[in-house]
Amino acid sequence: MQTELQKLWQPMTHPGTVQADPPKAIKAAEGVFITDTNDHTVLDAVGGLWNVNLGYSCQPIKDAIIQQLQDMPYYSSFRGVTTDTTLELSRVLTDWFGEEKMARAFFTSGGSDSVETALRLARQYHKVRGDKDRYKFISLKKGYHGTHFGGASVNGNGKFRRNYEPYLPGCFHISCPWTYRNPFDEDDPARLAQLCAQQLEDEIVSESADTIAAFIMEPVLGAGGVIVPHSSFMPMVRDICDRHGILLIADEVITAFGRTGAWTGSRLWDVRPDMMCTAKAITNGYFPFGATMIGEGLVDAFESNKDGAGEINHGYTYSGHPVGAAAALATLTQLKTTDVANNAGARGKELGEGLARLKEKHRWIGDARGIGLMHALELVSDLDTKKALDKKSMAVVGEAIYENGVMVRISGNNVILSPALILTDEHVQRIVDAIDAGLDALTQQA
Ligand SMILES: Cc1ncc(COP(=O)(O)O)c(C=O)c1O
Repeated sequence: MQTELQKLWQPMTHPGTVQADPPKAIKAAEGVFITDTNDHTVLDAVGGLWNVNLGYSCQPIKDAIIQQLQDMPYYSSFRGVTTDTTLELSRVLTDWFGEEKMARAFFTSGGSDSVETALRLARQYHKVRGDKDRYKFISLKKGYHGTHFGGASVNGNGKFRRNYEPYLPGCFHISCPWTYRNPFDEDDPARLAQLCAQQLEDEIVSESADTIAAFIMEPVLGAGGVIVPHSSFMPMVRDICDRHGILLIADEVITAFGRTGAWTGSRLWDVRPDMMCTAKAITNGYFPFGATMIGEGLVDAFESNKDGAGEINHGYTYSGHPVGAAAALATLTQLKTTDVANNAGARGKELGEGLARLKEKHRWIGDARGIGLMHALELVSDLDTKKALDKKSMAVVGEAIYENGVMVRISGNNVILSPALILTDEHVQRIVDAIDAGLDALTQQA
């Protein structure tokens, strides 16, 4: 086992550290619990990677995957053919996103693919309509949009960009409405939202609106540290985009299936984007799959095009994979019948209250924030200067939480929580208690 692990290079990891500090190998999972190869069982407060919304024991999804493998394990969806399961999913998904007026689905193999697809289709949409200079993208600092070159170019976090530059020309970033740290020194969420929206408008004017294809944002920023914009922010962005002919892409790879307590992040803020990027929980994490949803306002430009400019010369071997489509169909049925968005809202409130209590108790917590079942604790070594807690101390906290029965995600100086949406109140308490113990362990050794 050890030899095997040491031959693995992992995402978002320095390969050198794998030799000295091998990763935990998870060998089993049930409900919201995972078990490692040392037979240590913990509650998975990461929910796989924001994606196992229904937990690890959702039998109807497993059955649907097995059945599809038996019936027809693969067929392509390139020009002229597709599969019946793929077609059915496109119908079900356009219903699922009916409130956002999504009218077509383009299938992908994951979140980065979904973002890449949306960015490409945004440029193409303007070209098809003869608005040929619109190629630029604007996005939020701290936003995360995957790791393909397009997505990484609109990513707003230097950490994910620095080692792979140069990126696409024409990508610009504005401040995100992060009350704990922002260049305006503004901690009022509504006022900050307004300042960030003004910055967007300023950027559009300075770049010239007729060169900008799209603005892309996560309705709630996830990997950047669970940053929840004020409810006025995304509607203001929608309005600005409309006034300047710019498409609004909602990157809902984390938020599309109930995690915020609403079924989609755009719905949470009462916004209709032009496109939505989805993946992750669409198959409950059981099969790599994604969908870029295309809003009704874009459809006619492509479908009525006669000169070839509307042809989509983009796609993946596994676009519309029937096993993924079967998994997605079963997942959507389960999501609805179990009404987990509602549970995410209720348990999320309890989790937020628990974390706020920890903030009162532990001097390490600079900020506790979140919505639904996506939360973050931002840890600092000094509450006044907000100096980020160092890597070694973060590792101590993460390990102590794990020893106390809960897996959390340590990302920079954030403890990120994104458990399954089937969580109970007892599970919430267990998460809060384990973090409490993890922070006590840090205090003891400081
Ligand atoms: C908002 C967002 N967009 C895109 C991605 C990329 O998805 P994937 O890792 O499936 O390529 C992620 C992954 O975490 C994400 O959170």
